[in-house]
Amino acid sequence: MTRASLGGQLLRRRTIGMLVAEAGQSSEGSATLGRHLSMIQLAMISVGATLGTGILALLAEQIPHAGPGIWMSVLLAAVPALLSALSYAEMAGAVPVSGSSYSYAYVTLGEGVAWVVGWCLVLEYGVSVAAVASGAGQYVDETLAIFGLSLPAAIASDPSAEGGVFNLSAFLLVILAMVLLLRGVREAAWINTVLVALKVGVLLFFSAVAFTAFRVDHFDGMFDAFFPGVTGAAAVLFFSYIGFDAASTAGEEARDPARDLPRAILLGMGLVTAIYVVVAIAAVGAREAPWFRDHGLVTVLAEVTGQPWFGVVFSIGALIAFASIVLTVLYGQTRILLTMSRDGLVPRVFGRISPTTRTPVAGTLITGAVIAVAAGIVPLGELANATSIGTFAAFTVVNVAVIVLRYRRPDLPRTYRVPLFPVVPVLGAVTCLALMTQLSGGTWIAFGCWMAVGIAIYLAYGRRHSRIGALDERAYRAAIAGEASGFRAAPRAGRLPG
Ligand code: ALA
Repeated sequence: MTRASLGGQLLRRRTIGMLVAEAGQSSEGSATLGRHLSMIQLAMISVGATLGTGILALLAEQIPHAGPGIWMSVLLAAVPALLSALSYAEMAGAVPVSGSSYSYAYVTLGEGVAWVVGWCLVLEYGVSVAAVASGAGQYVDETLAIFGLSLPAAIASDPSAEGGVFNLSAFLLVILAMVLLLRGVREAAWINTVLVALKVGVLLFFSAVAFTAFRVDHFDGMFDAFFPGVTGAAAVLFFSYIGFDAASTAGEEARDPARDLPRAILLGMGLVTAIYVVVAIAAVGAREAPWFRDHGLVTVLAEVTGQPWFGVVFSIGALIAFASIVLTVLYGQTRILLTMSRDGLVPRVFGRISPTTRTPVAGTLITGAVIAVAAGIVPLGELANATSIGTFAAFTVVNVAVIVLRYRRPDLPRTYRVPLFPVVPVLGAVTCLALMTQLSGGTWIAFGCWMAVGIAIYLAYGRRHSRIGALDERAYRAAIAGEASGFRAAPRAGRLPG
């Protein structure tokens, strides 16, 4: 059997029919994932992965820059995110598998782009879980301090801080999420829904308290600092919307993915945007913009109520927020790797599904252990910042994929279509590329190094084990020629047996 040339293999696509037919299956054996997740649980996975540092810390930092117009920054930041979310919704409805943007790239732009996107997703998911978990350590310290307790310096942080050896809280947080995911997606999704309800509850509690001190005159001159104040803050706050794509990693565990994934992604985005705007208005209503130069949201609570211990609620809310990000994003990483292993681009062990728990046990153990240790000992520095570039790259590809698929497969059943095609995906891609150019040189260098490692891994492993690359030219052409009929012959995308 002759292999395709490297150039030819990089352009080889998998077909939607192949992916849909293999959906939910193990890389070996007969075990399958279970279809347990409802539309609301899917939306909560997206909200769980999204609500975090952005609203809890970045918003208050940006208020002095944007002034009382901060709520406009929050809305402006939602625009590029929403454009891409619309494209994700269309692709998730048309290609309802668990690989998210990696799979969308594979069926439209070929194996080369798919690998690049998959490797970017390891940044967006895997590396960012480690970064979020190490950030959570700070809130553990704050919460303990309220009760007069503290951790010994050696286990309070990684070696980048003085006296630090191992960030125990970060390590344990990832291990806890891993154990939950091993038990089964049903329990994990249920617990995530509770965590999301709690973190949203804390933000609504904050807003309710802040509104008791609301002053309309705090909003005077809110249009004065539009450029660059409001717009600059918007660019920073885009970070707070990253994560809405997490539901698209649950395509193979959704009860009715084709119908529910687009709804869940858009519902999650809508909820998050509404909460952010309410929090921004409540904060500035309670305290004038310059006050936030030296204070965070937590101090609003303490000052307005006159009860310093109200800060406890906020610190615990922050911990809960981080816990649900770790849980949902770790979940997403295991499902993306499972999909990649079925395509042959990462080892098969990531795709083995346990018949008892119906979860990828070995993949979850490996991924969880590596991320937990990284969160405990590795100062991630610039690599953590590079997650934004990886995310923008993935979003750009999804916008392009919508356009390619509309032209290549106009016949494909789509449960959701982006409005104003092709304006929305074109604007989505352009805004993501524009945001990428705003990131620093150091971040780009870290990203470049990350990609170099990814390319080396592809050449050493993925290129040799790729399933589509293993087909000879005739078999590949036949598979692609049968694309349309293959898809029609597959069961209706949204209603595969569990
Ligand atoms: N959107 C996530 C956060 O704000 C990344 O923490």
